[in-house]
Amino acid sequence: MLDHELEAMEREILLEAAVLAPSMHNTQPWKFAFRDDTIEVHRDPLRQLGAEDPEGRMLCISVGAVVFNIRVAAASLGRATRTSVLPDPARPLLVAEVRVGEVGRELPDPAGLYPYLPRRRTSRQPFDEREIPSDVRSELAEAAAREGAVVEWVTEPARVRRLLGLAVDAEIAEADDPRRLVERMQWVGGDRERDGIPSDALGPRPAEGVGPVRDLAVEPSDRLRATAAFERHPQLVVVWTPDDDPPAWLAAGQAMQRVLLLATSRGLAASPLTQPLEHAELREAVRQDAERHGHPQLILRLGYGPPGPRTPRRAVEEFLLDDTAPGMGGD
Ligand SMILES: Cc1cc2nc3c(=O)[nH]c(=O)nc-3n(C[C@H](O)[C@H](O)[C@H](O)COP(=O)(O)O)c2cc1C
Repeated sequence: MLDHELEAMEREILLEAAVLAPSMHNTQPWKFAFRDDTIEVHRDPLRQLGAEDPEGRMLCISVGAVVFNIRVAAASLGRATRTSVLPDPARPLLVAEVRVGEVGRELPDPAGLYPYLPRRRTSRQPFDEREIPSDVRSELAEAAAREGAVVEWVTEPARVRRLLGLAVDAEIAEADDPRRLVERMQWVGGDRERDGIPSDALGPRPAEGVGPVRDLAVEPSDRLRATAAFERHPQLVVVWTPDDDPPAWLAAGQAMQRVLLLATSRGLAASPLTQPLEHAELREAVRQDAERHGHPQLILRLGYGPPGPRTPRRAVEEFLLDDTAPGMGGD
């Protein structure tokens, strides 16, 4: 075996780490194949949200998070990585290749984030009012910059209110869209063992006014779940990229995951709040407010609060690419 070739146990460690990544509605829209020293990361078109994510931007961001987890796990095994995105135009489902190097003497970056892979969970619980210190804010902004993205801390109260207002506009538009609701019923609510968002991860409804968390509930029993008071001053960041194409979305996903894991290591909880960015006109409104940063890819709420519950993942074998699986023929 070549020095840099991956052993079976290493492959398992990489896969177990990869699938802990967050994904929109916990769709887990990825597949993997191993070739010598390379892990191929493919998107799974059967798990793209046709109504909520028709252009596949959220899917690419989710796949970017998986790529980052693989980099973290490989680094924890002492192996540096080289990532190329969309390496082969003839294989459109192949989104990225992560090539691992030989085992080195020191653990390369981002190995230090490995312990936080299972601890990072989306928390839709109320956070307390404690302000995130400025040195932690700067660290998180630097983390995004390392992945080619900008983390913009939204500090002006008027702009926070505006973003939350745009989130409400998105929810109103979505409530009238039967395709979205049908799709959401497939992915949200109930007890779940493989994928999707279980009822117990939805968090409470805001006791009054507009909450800083997306209400994803569709089942009547979830819609009427308990209420709680959310923080009065939500701490939001917008993640921006200079471009707005699949490579940029993958960069945004890697930046998001580096930020979320670092935030976890600093005792912070987080929840994405992306609905204003899923409607073209609302996304344009977000962009125009700070267009010098490029294109808004994600809004994240960060703060001190309880972690969310663990959400399910499919067994890792299910993610291994089978050339004969339906829908994978385009590759
Ligand atoms: C691209 C992307 C967009 C997301 N958008 C939202 C959102 O708008 N609101 C929300 O509450 N959660 C959002 N999430 C969080 C997912 O629902 C969550 O990652 C998934 O259910 C898995 O749970 P976990 O993060 O606890 O592992 C998003 C996640 C990703 C990767």
